[in-house]
Amino acid sequence: MMTEPMADTIISLKDVRRDFGPVAAVDGVSFDIARGEFFSMLGPSGCGKTTLLRMLAGLDQPTAGSILLDGQPMAGVPANLRPTNMVFQSYAIFPHLNVVENVSYGLKRLKLARAEEKARVDQALALVKLEGYEQRGAHQLSGGQRQRVALARALVCRPKVLLLDEPLGALDKKLREEMQVELRSLQRSVGITFVFVTHDQEEALTLSDRIAVMARGKVLQIDTATGLYERPYCREVAEFIGTMNLFAGRVTKIGHEISVDAGSIGTLRAPASEARISVGDAVHVAVRPEKLSVLTGKARTGTNVVTGKLVASTYLGDRSRYLVQVPGVPAPVSVSLQHDGQHAAGVALPGSKINLAWPASAGIVLTA
Ligand SMILES: Nc1ncnc2c1ncn2[C@@H]1O[C@H](COP(=O)(O)OP(=O)(O)O)[C@@H](O)[C@H]1O
Ligand SMILES: [Mg+2]
Repeated sequence: MMTEPMADTIISLKDVRRDFGPVAAVDGVSFDIARGEFFSMLGPSGCGKTTLLRMLAGLDQPTAGSILLDGQPMAGVPANLRPTNMVFQSYAIFPHLNVVENVSYGLKRLKLARAEEKARVDQALALVKLEGYEQRGAHQLSGGQRQRVALARALVCRPKVLLLDEPLGALDKKLREEMQVELRSLQRSVGITFVFVTHDQEEALTLSDRIAVMARGKVLQIDTATGLYERPYCREVAEFIGTMNLFAGRVTKIGHEISVDAGSIGTLRAPASEARISVGDAVHVAVRPEKLSVLTGKARTGTNVVTGKLVASTYLGDRSRYLVQVPGVPAPVSVSLQHDGQHAAGVALPGSKINLAWPASAGIVLTA
């Protein structure tokens, strides 16, 4: 995948690869990260996220390709001489040291004057909101507090780049959400580039300026949260980010719109695509659940309509979710209807026939 050159690049990966025997853990990735960016790598377990992060940190070496950090080639540069620090998923803090000792640990090799060291530790503890906990032992801290200590220990060294490998993965949901907010505002206030690894799409979407979606050692797409949601390049990204309805078919006409013969559900129309598509190609027309509406009267021209049977409806307070079985479509079609004052009453009883409609402009053509 080509990426545009960036104004102020701090990390540049070129054809980076890491083989473990026959396994390509990272299979040729190239991209740049801008200074000050909150950049996430998102993908299922085993897709190569940790391996990539470890190579940035200097804890592992690429089999091929190059890594530049702040303009410097990193081949042969050991971890302790890189402008990076890493925070791990497990609370990697020393159990026998108290908070201050844990945080100042990384500073010892800098041999700072005592007052300077103290000032730095105090500042790092303030950043993670742990003032007053200086003398606490590691065993007297909650999971969230221990992870804050790990963060402070990484921040106290003032790295140019902070590498975070699923740092919130071990926390329960509520604490994780609180820490997400804090992490984001912390990143803004210190201005350090964050490279954040997660398998949780919501977390990536909430936190990041840009997200690299990964699978099988490759980067599928790099984009903002909106870009990934509204303009996925491929089916895998479309299904990984949120819910996506897919209608399989074959392209019959390409003009200002694309016509797709979707078999028993008829011809679907979608906007022209940036992807290279030719007449005869097997494609999916992809539509998000909230772009669908339940059609009561006659369809407007320029609208796609499919008919199916309601199989489930769920009331979710601000909206309802319906699953509709459409003959010829393998998975039930998911519909999300926002409740305005008049709506809210269920559209229909399960088992009844309903027509679903969406404007041609709401579809995305994805090559199969
Ligand atoms: N030291 C290693 N030796 C052999 N295989 C490894 C090693 N580290 C990672 N792998 C393999 O590389 C792939 C990517 O692993 P990893 O980077 O840990 O994925 P993720 O962090 O996305 O879950 C997996 O198939 C994993 O089994
Ligand atoms: Mg991992």
